[in-house]
Amino acid sequence: MSTEQMPLIAVVGATSKQGRSVATALLKSKQYRVRALTRNRYSVGARSLADLGAEVVVAPLGLGHEEDLVTAFRGADGAYLMTPQLLPQDNAEFVLGKQLADAAVEAGVGHIVFSTLENVDKISGGRKFTPHFTDKALVADYIRTLPITHSFVSLAFFYTNLLEYYVPQMDGDTLLMPIYLPEDFRAPFVDPVTATGPAVLSVLSDPHTFKGKTIPIVGDILSPREMVDTFQRVTGVKAEYRSAFEREELLKFFPGFAANELLVDELIGMVEFAVEYGYFGKEHDLEWSRRLNPETLSWEQFLKSTGWRGDKTQFGL
Ligand SMILES: NC(=O)c1ccc[n+]([C@@H]2O[C@H](COP(=O)([O-])OP(=O)(O)OC[C@H]3O[C@@H](n4cnc5c(N)ncnc54)[C@H](OP(=O)(O)O)[C@@H]3O)[C@@H](O)[C@H]2O)c1
Repeated sequence: MSTEQMPLIAVVGATSKQGRSVATALLKSKQYRVRALTRNRYSVGARSLADLGAEVVVAPLGLGHEEDLVTAFRGADGAYLMTPQLLPQDNAEFVLGKQLADAAVEAGVGHIVFSTLENVDKISGGRKFTPHFTDKALVADYIRTLPITHSFVSLAFFYTNLLEYYVPQMDGDTLLMPIYLPEDFRAPFVDPVTATGPAVLSVLSDPHTFKGKTIPIVGDILSPREMVDTFQRVTGVKAEYRSAFEREELLKFFPGFAANELLVDELIGMVEFAVEYGYFGKEHDLEWSRRLNPETLSWEQFLKSTGWRGDKTQFGL
């Protein structure tokens, strides 16, 4: 198939960890063309996607840019839709996700894959406040009503949270690892940068099988105790778990979060939800992404492949 005949996939948030993974996997498959949507075509991330062969277009991920989105989606056979981390107010993620889906329909896109999470509000009967989960679930519900072929992926907790947001802190000769879950609670984790793309490539390549489905993407299911033990074994760095599960513990290690009370409420709501109800609903097959792609990184493989030793890491390229 010549390049011009390959299906074109528009990737929203193409420089994000998950978007970059999707764009890269599609381009490397040599089965798809990629249109990468970004706010800034001159960023290192956008330029590296252009170097790989993506068509880079500017389409801000914000309200009031419907026309830009429709134009960016026009001619695409498929689209990967994601919402970035937004402040948890005014259902901001729902409004943005709906705008993305509407633009894809208006542009005549064939198949959309939306990155969703559970409806925490519904599952917890309103007891847990986690709009960045619930809003995504509401977008998914909305998409189910639209005249467009759709599938969903649902990513586990990112390993990269420990590198970006919940960064370990040195105390004498010991690296303290404040983790937002109780020490022996096992939760699903994944590396978004390497795992998202292969899963989305499979979904787009087989719309018949994945039409209407929600596919979890999971690299490992493990507890903070296991994470810290593995970290010590792989890196040789002396490390200890510290709990950042309770509000006071979280703010003790990360006082900067206190600047946004709603964000703290949301982080606490999210981890309490994961512990009390399970991060994923029981109907999901958590082995799917590892079966599909046996190279999906476990925590140990992630540590070995990244060489991470506890330092703060930026995920802009
Ligand atoms: N952390 C977790 O454990 C976890 C687990 C499951 C799901 N998620 C979800 O994953 C999403 C974030 O994905 P990610 O971590 O892959 O993204 P990311 O690496 O933080 O990148 C976000 C991208 O979105 C673009 N963007 C456009 N408008 C933006 C805005 N107003 N604010 C910030 N970024 C904006 C930016 O690209 P340009 O600058 O190129 O426009 C940026 O590269 C969130 O919705 C989060 O809820 C997170």
